[in-house]
Amino acid sequence: MKENSEDISKKTSLLFVCLGNICRSPAAEGIMRHITKEHMMEDYVDLDSAGIGSWHAGELPDRRMRSHGSAHGYDFSSRARQIKQEDMQRFDHIIVMDDENYKDVTAMARTDEQRRKISRMTDFCKHHPGHTAVPDPYYGGDRGFELVIELLEDGCKELLKQIAQKHGVAYLL
Ligand code: 4NP
Repeated sequence: MKENSEDISKKTSLLFVCLGNICRSPAAEGIMRHITKEHMMEDYVDLDSAGIGSWHAGELPDRRMRSHGSAHGYDFSSRARQIKQEDMQRFDHIIVMDDENYKDVTAMARTDEQRRKISRMTDFCKHHPGHTAVPDPYYGGDRGFELVIELLEDGCKELLKQIAQKHGVAYLL
């Protein structure tokens, strides 16, 4: 996580972003919420997700994504929304899933400080060195949804670890 001038007395806020906000980013939000709770770190983390597009606004995550999530013990039940300009200001970190998302979100940044908030989910993955994106599973099969969960679990654990370090909280994995 890039170092921004953050006030560590307040929660660290994360916005996960993908194209439609019905597969990858709600799964990232759900997994991060799950492990945040598991590590009793709710007082330190604020989470949300959004999509580049508005096509699915108001919808629950894709049925396939929810079902793969349930099989791993997760509850993906956020409602889709489109990213908006004020998100660039409001969140400490904006975490995107692929290069296309990176380009689109970067185009919304109005200051260098806002540009520095943007990272790729795979930057945090410790066990998937060959992956530079969380691939869009929408038009594929089961394996694509499983890969999304695998990459997100890897990245979210590292994210939580970095947040714990920032707040001086012991983090046991
Ligand atoms: P997501 O997946 O970006 O991971 O939510 C997609 C969902 C919907 C569409 C594309 C990607 N779509 O074209 O409707």
